[in-house]
Amino acid sequence: MTKINENYLNLPGSYLFAEISRRVAAYKTAHPEADIIRLGIGDVTKALPPTIIDGLHKAVDEMGSDETFRGYGPEQGYTFLIEKIIQFDYAPLGIQLDTDEVFVSDGSKSDTGNIQEIFSLDTKVAMTDPVYPVYIDTNVMAGRSGLLGKDGRYANIVYIPCHAGNSFVPELPKEKVDLIYLCFPNNPTGTTLKKSELKKWVDYARENKAVILYDAAYEAYIQEDDIPHSIYEVEGAKEVAIEFRTFSKNAGFTGTRCAFTVVPKTVMGYTASGEAYPFNKLWNRRQTTKFNGAPYIVQKGAEAVYTPEGQKQIHEIIAYYMKNAKAIREGVQSIGLEVFGGVNAPYIWLKTPQNMDSWTFFDKLLNEAHIVGTPGVGFGPSGQGYFRLTAFGKAENTLEAVERLKTRLKL
Ligand code: MLT
Repeated sequence: MTKINENYLNLPGSYLFAEISRRVAAYKTAHPEADIIRLGIGDVTKALPPTIIDGLHKAVDEMGSDETFRGYGPEQGYTFLIEKIIQFDYAPLGIQLDTDEVFVSDGSKSDTGNIQEIFSLDTKVAMTDPVYPVYIDTNVMAGRSGLLGKDGRYANIVYIPCHAGNSFVPELPKEKVDLIYLCFPNNPTGTTLKKSELKKWVDYARENKAVILYDAAYEAYIQEDDIPHSIYEVEGAKEVAIEFRTFSKNAGFTGTRCAFTVVPKTVMGYTASGEAYPFNKLWNRRQTTKFNGAPYIVQKGAEAVYTPEGQKQIHEIIAYYMKNAKAIREGVQSIGLEVFGGVNAPYIWLKTPQNMDSWTFFDKLLNEAHIVGTPGVGFGPSGQGYFRLTAFGKAENTLEAVERLKTRLKL
């Protein structure tokens, strides 16, 4: 008799975005005429910019000739890309990294999901609530979460509520934790932390020998000053933080797949006997065993992001999405709903009318306005009564959605 990994039975029935797709498909079957606008999953809609396409094309041609063909590449990523990442994303912020501290991958979803493998099973995990479901689901799969309670919380996870009442600024946990997931600009709330606020977490981690997993997937959307683009802008963070970045959201790679994770050699864990051991070595071991590197072609496309034309083109696309964000923010405000985010992030987080629960509002929006969004409670119990809209849609669809909010939604 082959036994299953019963931790999986402890998960919600389906992954949040799969559940949304299922509900939308059912609605579409029942109402084939409905012209649905999707502002649910944070998937980009603009084409890859020409400079990146050129980079990809050249690499495709190289693969077609024996002289320039590439087989397995380095599991950690090609040096040509890692050097650009360090030079353009970190050096201008005054952050020094060695090339063996950056690991290129096929996405931040996989990296943020896989990273928990290098931490002991009795690690006390804390995460902000609401949260990107990958962080929590992967800890459930590993058996670290304990059982799901009726309140929607797993027994062994420390939830750090973020809501309008605390301006979405997470407070330090009262109990001691070992591993902390932070994502800023935040998915799903679209809110940010100032450097001074992030410093409290870095200080906490240093004092408690904890590690911060910092997801900076949306850093390219930061518009205001005094908001850190990298956690390593905070003094001491290289001792305690692992940072995740992706080309998905800044350069349109959601379907092309390329990201990277920074694991400084100074971030230490401890053996059972109390000996310090660098997480960098463990992650390298994990990646070399389970991953054969992101495709050469894709990494060449990512390299083109760092050319002057590439930079100009991606910034135009970011500005396009941020214009959508502004339109959604203003539209939601104009119908009298409270709105957060959307200023330094492509997500708009709104308070549902009359404290309606998130899934009820999902159905209402779909029925009355044919708009798909994401129910806040899908990101955790503190998301109840909130709802997320993304700015990653096409401009014309976004404006049409705003118009429908104003004219079709019965409040
Ligand atoms: C989201 O919609 O929260 C994210 O885009 C999903 C993802 O990046 O995996």
